[in-house]
Amino acid sequence: MQKLYSSKVLVTGGAGFIGSNLIEALLSQDNTVVCLDNFATGKQENIAPFRSHAKFTLIEGDIRNIDDCRKAVSGMDYVLHQAALGSVPRSINDPATTNEVNVGGFVNMLLASRDAGVKRFVYAASSSTYGDHPALPKVEENIGRPLSPYAITKYVNELYASVFADLYGMEIIGLRYFNVFGKRQDPDGAYAAVIPKFVKSMIDGVPPVINGDGSHSRDFTYVENVVQVNQLALLTENQEALNTVYNVAFGENTSLNELYSQLTGFLSEFKPEIAGLKPIYGPVRKGDVLHSLASIDKARRLLGYDPKYNLHAGLKEAIQWYIAYFSK
Ligand SMILES: NC(=O)c1ccc[n+]([C@@H]2O[C@H](COP(=O)([O-])OP(=O)(O)OC[C@H]3O[C@@H](n4cnc5c(N)ncnc54)[C@H](O)[C@@H]3O)[C@@H](O)[C@H]2O)c1
Repeated sequence: MQKLYSSKVLVTGGAGFIGSNLIEALLSQDNTVVCLDNFATGKQENIAPFRSHAKFTLIEGDIRNIDDCRKAVSGMDYVLHQAALGSVPRSINDPATTNEVNVGGFVNMLLASRDAGVKRFVYAASSSTYGDHPALPKVEENIGRPLSPYAITKYVNELYASVFADLYGMEIIGLRYFNVFGKRQDPDGAYAAVIPKFVKSMIDGVPPVINGDGSHSRDFTYVENVVQVNQLALLTENQEALNTVYNVAFGENTSLNELYSQLTGFLSEFKPEIAGLKPIYGPVRKGDVLHSLASIDKARRLLGYDPKYNLHAGLKEAIQWYIAYFSK
């Protein structure tokens, strides 16, 4: 697979889950990395391993502030824009702040990147953009009505990206992530994602709550697959591959009940009593789509994306990390 070497890359949201995994890979390939983050949801501990690296710089700042964006992008070859407020429920509780960060901040980052003349801008889009479109698997061209403020912001990102590419000649690629999981994903708080939330709950001996009857499904995507595709998006020389969006997933869906059973299998090896823990079934959450499954044909064809980790292989690695994390 193609990897990026010896370049200068700005990772916004680099103290977060996906951003910190991107930084780790980039530094291991001799790139110079600047991380812009305001620690809204990111953590110092996520970037602690990089702080002493000679080619790593942290800029503590806010993408809602254009001066912070300009400072961070100055002299950079590439931008991997991950900073945003994630979570559908958060956006339902506070749509205004989600919009300020995810839309206002996005436009600031585009403007700063345009003016700095970066070679390419790759950003985190979202599978939530498929909204209420019923077709499975999801193909990039067919989207429905958004089901949450978060989904609106991520779709608006795509619209701005397209207009900036047309008007200013920028090279921009959007990556619609599907339920990413892996090391450093935050297990705490009201807006935690399902896998770390369940893992923490099960290790604590508390039955996790499954929203709905457990038949809902997701295309769970291990973070190493996401690291791979971000680099491919930065490196592709295929003109047809530019200024568009891609599904980033493994291309298989798994029900919440099946996920629970896989987690039980892994975790009960570490703590046998977890085998006896039964989940609690709660109400379906507002704004959630019922099923999610991606076609990854477009990313395979145009970017050469070849995800190596299915859910089981990814969980195997992620669980080891969480067990070490919770044992600290
Ligand atoms: N995790 C997923 O499954 C998933 C799915 C689809 C899309 N995404 C998108 O991927 C990106 C990364 O998500 P993640 O899961 O790593 O989330 P995360 O919350 O761990 O990371 C987001 C980072 O952005 C930073 N940030 C937030 N507001 C900021 C601001 N105003 N200025 C500067 N930094 C700010 C946070 O502090 C955090 O470090 C986000 O854009 C998210 O919407 C994630």
